[in-house]
Amino acid sequence: MQPKLVGISEIAEMADPPVTKQAVANWRVRYDDFPRPVETLQSGPVWDAEVIKTWLDAKAGHAPVVISFINLKGGVAKTTTSVAVAEILAKEFRKHVLFIDLDPQTNATINLIKEEEWQKRDGDGRTLVQLFRDKLRPDDPPVFDIEKAIIRGASTIDGGISRLDLLPSSIQFIEVQEKLPFIAMQGNYNNNPQDILRRALQPVLDRYDFVIIDCPPSLGIVTKNGLKISTHYVIPTIPDIVSTWGIFQIVSNIATFSESINRLIKPLGIVATKVQGTIDLHARVMRELRESRLFDGKNTDLKQPPLFQNQIKQNANTARGADSEANLNTFRQKYGPNYEEFFGLTKEILEKCNPPKS
Ligand SMILES: Nc1ncnc2c1ncn2[C@@H]1O[C@H](COP(=O)(O)OP(=O)(O)OP(=O)(O)O)[C@@H](O)[C@H]1O
Ligand SMILES: [Mg+2]
Repeated sequence: MQPKLVGISEIAEMADPPVTKQAVANWRVRYDDFPRPVETLQSGPVWDAEVIKTWLDAKAGHAPVVISFINLKGGVAKTTTSVAVAEILAKEFRKHVLFIDLDPQTNATINLIKEEEWQKRDGDGRTLVQLFRDKLRPDDPPVFDIEKAIIRGASTIDGGISRLDLLPSSIQFIEVQEKLPFIAMQGNYNNNPQDILRRALQPVLDRYDFVIIDCPPSLGIVTKNGLKISTHYVIPTIPDIVSTWGIFQIVSNIATFSESINRLIKPLGIVATKVQGTIDLHARVMRELRESRLFDGKNTDLKQPPLFQNQIKQNANTARGADSEANLNTFRQKYGPNYEEFFGLTKEILEKCNPPKS
């Protein structure tokens, strides 16, 4: 079916309350995520009406900034960095934050709540896997309830940070995600398998200033569910060859995905993690990243995302902090000297996103 097309004056009418054509022209300049026109006719640019409606709805609902932390390489501190940023946004910057653990390894979940609590929740359908499992059995009544699945006051810091909520993951994701590509073919079920998370989150999203997503090290359907709701992404990497080689692949894949959904997912930057000053290779790769030379020699128009000024050094303290059983109650206990670095990084992220609510 052909999409219904609308021009600037129709968009001005669609807004609630309606606005002037000039206001729509201003949005195009001001908002990076304003949809791109489908084509430009003699009368001017035209857009897919559905895409515009989604954008207007999100704008009216004070859509949060949604940041995916992503790298195809394992063990580069995606989880550690995303958890620290979420904790600092909530506790130090007083933002309302939802942390979504999309990784079947459940490292972020176990970092933020006790394993015993996670097991209880996983057993009675209160982890994200249940949301996806429900979609595989469209004829049965859904078990997943977003309000019950969200854990309020997550984190070991202070025994829980009041503004930090968590949607926990599950190891059982591994089997479920393999079946997900087939759900669109089941019966009369017309759900897009990349849209499952977005639909489930719709009733709760406007409570949050930020949503932070810890992605698994792949670009499969579960990660695409995260990207589908993301406004931005951050690439954590160890400054070495094996950790940085996949960055071009991530940036180009997300650019293509972004185009396919007609909405910009903006790369905020690359954050260097587990940096060791004594290693020559680290110094060399840091220089390459700082000078934006990572994509040199590639036949591409894509730019390397900038390197965040704050880098996270290798530190034994942070390695210990990854387990909620360790009872680390303060930022200092959990992150040691890395705390200042994570704080600086969070500040840079805030400045770059310029969130809609203060
Ligand atoms: N700054 C740091 N200093 C020392 N160890 C660190 C630091 N950051 C993370 N680590 C440790 O490195 C390991 C990998 O980190 P993490 O689990 O955050 O990576 P990841 O990218 O999420 O991995 P995966 O791909 O498996 O999900 C963990 O044991 C973690 O505790
Ligand atoms: Mg991880």
